[in-house]
Amino acid sequence: MKLIYLAAALPLVRGLLRFPCAQLVTERLDPLVTPGQVSPHLHQIVGGNAFNISMDPNTDIAKTSTCTTCRFKEDKSNYWTAVLFFKHSNGSYIRVPQIANGGTGKSNGGMTVYYVQPSSGAKFTSFRKGFRMIVGDPMVRSDRHITANSVQSYALTFRCWDGSVGFPKKKCPGGIRTNIFFPTCWDGKTLDPPDHHSHVQYINGTPNPRAGIFYQDGTCPSTHPVRLPLIFLETVWDTKPFMNIWPTDGSQPLVYSMGDPTGFGQHGDYVFGWEDDSLDRAMARCNDRGDFPADCKELTILTDDQINSYLPALPGCNPIQNGPDAATMISGCTAISTTGTGQPTLSSTHPSPSTPTSTPVPSSTVPGPVTTKYSQCGGNGWGGPTLCPAGTSCTVVNEWYSQCI
Ligand SMILES: *[C@@H]1O[C@H](CO)[C@@H](O)[C@H](O)[C@H]1NC(C)=O
Ligand SMILES: *[C@@H]1O[C@H](CO)[C@@H](O)[C@H](O)[C@H]1NC(C)=O
Repeated sequence: MKLIYLAAALPLVRGLLRFPCAQLVTERLDPLVTPGQVSPHLHQIVGGNAFNISMDPNTDIAKTSTCTTCRFKEDKSNYWTAVLFFKHSNGSYIRVPQIANGGTGKSNGGMTVYYVQPSSGAKFTSFRKGFRMIVGDPMVRSDRHITANSVQSYALTFRCWDGSVGFPKKKCPGGIRTNIFFPTCWDGKTLDPPDHHSHVQYINGTPNPRAGIFYQDGTCPSTHPVRLPLIFLETVWDTKPFMNIWPTDGSQPLVYSMGDPTGFGQHGDYVFGWEDDSLDRAMARCNDRGDFPADCKELTILTDDQINSYLPALPGCNPIQNGPDAATMISGCTAISTTGTGQPTLSSTHPSPSTPTSTPVPSSTVPGPVTTKYSQCGGNGWGGPTLCPAGTSCTVVNEWYSQCI
């Protein structure tokens, strides 16, 4: 709504895409920060289905993805953020549901993605294959490093239909929207440095408080001279179901999945994955004033059903097997995003369905049939296998969590 207001106030002549990407998965993976390992905290991920635990930078995800949860079929990129929880006064946590943003159709949760040309209409260089970046730091718990009116004070914010850095301190009856603005100045060389952020910087100067980074323009630092389109992510968290149990003592019950009750640790990750030159063509010719992805004739529009995951087949290699004979595991599965090489042997360790079993065995005493690499191997409350597959050993992260690595 704010966008429409601003758009009316400042006529747009520049390339702008605004589109929903429905939820792809919510899981503890972060292939940029912890490739090949389970991530320390939970993320929500949208975009192409080539997303997996490792995301080798040499893989062209625009080619390996076979579908996407984004409105534009050509966008096989992945975008992810931390996940919001509500902490009940009794100490339990529940995930805050996500809802579609205004004017984006009926996408299932996920987020709204913007690509914006500099407001002056200035030229920019689009992202290259293999480009990745992260903004924000999950370990931050204060705004001490942010000076008033700096770009940083606008980059990672919350809108209780007003803006704040850090979680709003009041009830937000209509929900809370998080805003993540990525930097738009690139060093022009590095696709993805080890820290995933030093190759990009914000433009010089101070945003206009009425327009924020969205309409900010200016020059890039000399170290990062190449202007990129602005990527901006919005996630709408539905806090309405919690209004009746919101704390009455003024405390703030929201926490991010990395144990952050402040909101200052908000972060967003981006892995470029547009097909061919589709993003460049769209940025050159499409000017979505806020709510109409279909106006962009350069790109292929997917329906709500398509982005909300009507799938041509079940994920993995799981053709329907009607029985009554036991189903067989499909060998040599080459489904997209398949992780690990361990061949599960479920069909041989389970009784055939025609043999009734009277006493179900408690699952905690059944040796885990699948001991793939990266599985959990011990820790308090863990009743699964503690043997790791050959070539890996049980690495104890803490007393609650360990992994075969
Ligand atoms: C806290 O309250 C919720 C909602 O009534 C309930 O589902 C949950 O089990 C409770 N947790 C504890 C630890 O009592
Ligand atoms: C991740 O997916 C790519 C294909 O996109 C595949 O080459 C790679 O092996 C997968 N990684 C893992 C750990 O399975």
